[in-house]
Amino acid sequence: MAERVGILVVSYGAREVAMIDAFLRSTNYNVEVYVADKQRNPFNAKNAKAHVVIPDLNVEAICKFAEAHKDRIDFGIVGPEKPIIEGVRDLVEKRVGIPMICPTKEYAIEASKVQQRLLFQEAVPEVNPRFKIFRQEEFKTAEDARKTLYKWLDELGNMAVVKPDKPAAGKGVGVWGDHFTTREQLFEHFWENLRHGAVIVEEKIEGEESSFQAFCDGKHLVPLPETRDYKRAFDGDKGPNTGGMGSYKDAGEILPFMTAADRERELRIVNKIFDKWRASENNALRGIPFYVAFMHTGKESKILENNSRPGDPEIINILPVLKDDFVDVCFKILDGNLTRVEVEKAATVVTYKAPPSYGGYAEAFPELVEKTEINKPVDLTKAYELSKKYGERICVYPASMEIRNGETYALKSRAVCVVGISETIEDARNISLEGVKAIKGGALWHRTDIASKQHIEKSIRHMEALRKRK
Ligand code: AMP
Ligand code: GLY
Repeated sequence: MAERVGILVVSYGAREVAMIDAFLRSTNYNVEVYVADKQRNPFNAKNAKAHVVIPDLNVEAICKFAEAHKDRIDFGIVGPEKPIIEGVRDLVEKRVGIPMICPTKEYAIEASKVQQRLLFQEAVPEVNPRFKIFRQEEFKTAEDARKTLYKWLDELGNMAVVKPDKPAAGKGVGVWGDHFTTREQLFEHFWENLRHGAVIVEEKIEGEESSFQAFCDGKHLVPLPETRDYKRAFDGDKGPNTGGMGSYKDAGEILPFMTAADRERELRIVNKIFDKWRASENNALRGIPFYVAFMHTGKESKILENNSRPGDPEIINILPVLKDDFVDVCFKILDGNLTRVEVEKAATVVTYKAPPSYGGYAEAFPELVEKTEINKPVDLTKAYELSKKYGERICVYPASMEIRNGETYALKSRAVCVVGISETIEDARNISLEGVKAIKGGALWHRTDIASKQHIEKSIRHMEALRKRK
């Protein structure tokens, strides 16, 4: 009989459902999961040995849950940034003695975009766009701040991006041409953010984005295949930034618009950052401490941000096609001897569905909202039934959903995603879309152009033009 393993999972949404699904597919171990969850997620509630709902995922409550089950838990893994930034690993390891897979509080660099830029400046300065850091205390009046800001905008020719230091502080990231088209609007965004802490104003970079992720055991960096996230809410990359409405991965390591040289450059960059920042305490950088959002410009690759956790949805493109047993991968991370992982040669496409209140959909398209369906139960049965047709080539992962009186309801964030897996992106996309369309109720909506041929060809043409320009 396979060895029993107990795993604590700190869960936010579909990203952690994908992790738990990967654990439950383990053939080497008989896995029990203990889930500290943001909501009563239907998949987690059904599959967990013990399940607790902690809506704000506060670290004290997570620690208490770990303590209550500590005799059955071998290790823990954390998806969402908030508990990582608040030091869940330090607390659970110290108080309960369960080893945790995520960076320590000190090494959760996602906590500060300013700290990230300064680290990159030391390790690989060429990955930073031109940037300046502003703090409110530097200015006597708003007019002072405006003058200094406009001087910087003169240097950047207005092509600027405004970024609050802390994740989800103030009005978030604002991009010239997308979120503002006048200096006054940019100033307003900047000033509102400055009330919440430091703000970076940096050069707007033109290019194509990709998400780099690597597992890390503290000593080794094990890169995963590249993925492309769709951050904007609506088709054609319109609307506000979201957590990501979907993503794709090609059959190989890179994306159709990237070259092998782009990927090699990324690896050089991330390794330099890792070398600079490798913790004195060797295992502090555990989990996925380097999720790096790259912008490829043709000749260079700039970093937009670094997260200290797996991407949502990006890790959902990888886990279903991981060839290694995910439990073994985790044990190797904990032992400090993870030197490689194997991923199937398959393309994967993730499409999310979200409620009308998410991503500004109801305001942008009021006529498209099925008003009588809002807050009604969502029926996932037909989507699950597609596994009769597609077997393991389809995964349906609930995210911001809860089970209540036997019915499934969408909450406020991205509600549910469907992963399609196949040899080509096109086929994987068709499976994902068929799954998404089979989900009924709750007035949920989705982007229809995730991984579309048109969208990918546009990226390819864009990169070709950029490479020629240099
Ligand atoms: P971030 O939270 O820093 O990843 O920013 C969110 C989104 O804003 C990114 O996915 C990009 O689309 C855009 N963005 C951020 N920084 C820049 C930049 N320097 N140049 C162009 N676009 C950017
Ligand atoms: N999809 C972007 C992120 O996980 O931050």
